[in-house]
Amino acid sequence: MKKITTVTELRQQITQWKKAGQRVALVPTMGNLHQGHLSLVETAKQIADKVIVSLFVNPLQFDDKTDLSAYPRTLDADIEQLISVECAGVFIPTVQTMYPEGMDGQAKITVPAIDDKLCGQARPGHFDGVATVVAKLFNMVQPDVAVFGEKDYQQLLLIKKMVIDLNFATEIIGAATFREKNGLAMSSRNQYLTEQQRQQAASLYRILNDIKIKLIKGETDFSKLEQQAIAELKQLGFEPDYVDIRHAGNLTPAKSSDKALRVLLAARLGRARLIDNIACDLD
Ligand code: PAF
Repeated sequence: MKKITTVTELRQQITQWKKAGQRVALVPTMGNLHQGHLSLVETAKQIADKVIVSLFVNPLQFDDKTDLSAYPRTLDADIEQLISVECAGVFIPTVQTMYPEGMDGQAKITVPAIDDKLCGQARPGHFDGVATVVAKLFNMVQPDVAVFGEKDYQQLLLIKKMVIDLNFATEIIGAATFREKNGLAMSSRNQYLTEQQRQQAASLYRILNDIKIKLIKGETDFSKLEQQAIAELKQLGFEPDYVDIRHAGNLTPAKSSDKALRVLLAARLGRARLIDNIACDLD
């Protein structure tokens, strides 16, 4: 596996692959890789000849500086895992490489209509930071395709909209959420949980499924379902941020005539802010 740290080296490698007619996939990550990330690499391997993973904890998307400094960094283990899944390359830029002029004057990308709701309300500036770093990575790597997890569903829609709005030539693929046996969505933030909290956190997926079943049975009082779930989360010891039933394509509040729905939630448990979501197709 090629270990690349500079943009010059990166461009040389990508040019070489593309000259050889190879299709390149990018899997952007912030490192601290787990099976969920490796499943994104597996998806990318099926649709491209060469997969490059970026490992970069992007300061621009952290609204909370304590959260940024606490974010787990496990570079050696990450590299081992990428070798084990036969990833072709890993790009490990420094903050200086990504933001040579500093972050204050950095041109930023805003993706309106998606960034202002759900997690965007609780984390001001977060999605501008995500869109900006992903746009920079796309310009550096020029990938034919990029793979993002559905666990961060709002992020996935944001990137899809950015690609359309700004005419990036990269195809965006969403990959299914990888879950622990108990249903808990895999996340680097799960390591902030105690063993007992990990068991408790499985309730998130169960609550999403309960809502889905009620929607499929014909419940149209979305607000009632959301409020019931919020009350249940509180009772179970979570600090819920939101439980929302939304239009799957644009995340506007769902209407009773909508067929493709997405149920999304965010809640704090101990030190972790956890998010999860589920598709609900009413056709
Ligand atoms: O999902 C993530 O890990 C990050 O938001 C991303 C897409 C790598 C951008 O920093």
